[in-house]
Amino acid sequence: MANTLGIIKPDGVRRRLVGKIIDKIENAGLIIRGLKTLRLSREQAEKFYAVHESKPFYKSLVEFMTSGPIVVMVIGGHGSIERWRELMGATDPAKAKYNTIRREFATSVEKNVVHGSDGPDTAKTEIAFFFKEDEILPKE
Ligand code: RTP
Ligand code: MG
Repeated sequence: MANTLGIIKPDGVRRRLVGKIIDKIENAGLIIRGLKTLRLSREQAEKFYAVHESKPFYKSLVEFMTSGPIVVMVIGGHGSIERWRELMGATDPAKAKYNTIRREFATSVEKNVVHGSDGPDTAKTEIAFFFKEDEILPKE
């Protein structure tokens, strides 16, 4: 029962979608185990997305992710990593399934409202990027 990291990106916060997104997470039976709002510095955004450093969209992505506050969440519950990615939908909203967050709310492949860790290893490092151990609710 690994936790995963979710982010409501600057477009989601700006458009006041925080409540709607958390509602979908809880309705899916997943649990919010950690939650905070913050604004990424350029250095933090560059580090968080370092895996995409060589991609043509990297500079624009860092620009976007630092453009306003974000909400970071530790999401738990059975199959949380896969199930949160399912709820988000494909990166490109045009390719995302109906009833996914990106299909419903994203406005472009970049401004796609949410982030989710893509596996157990990234979940671990991404959670540690934002949360101390004592900021995460223990599993019951
Ligand atoms: P994320 O990491 O944010 O959960 O999204 P993802 O796994 O679905 O997509 P990934 O390939 O990891 O890309 C990270 C984020 O970079 C932006 N992006 N822009 N302009 C483009 O072609 C492009 N491709 C990706 C998106 O914000 C994407 O979520
Ligand atoms: Mg990714």
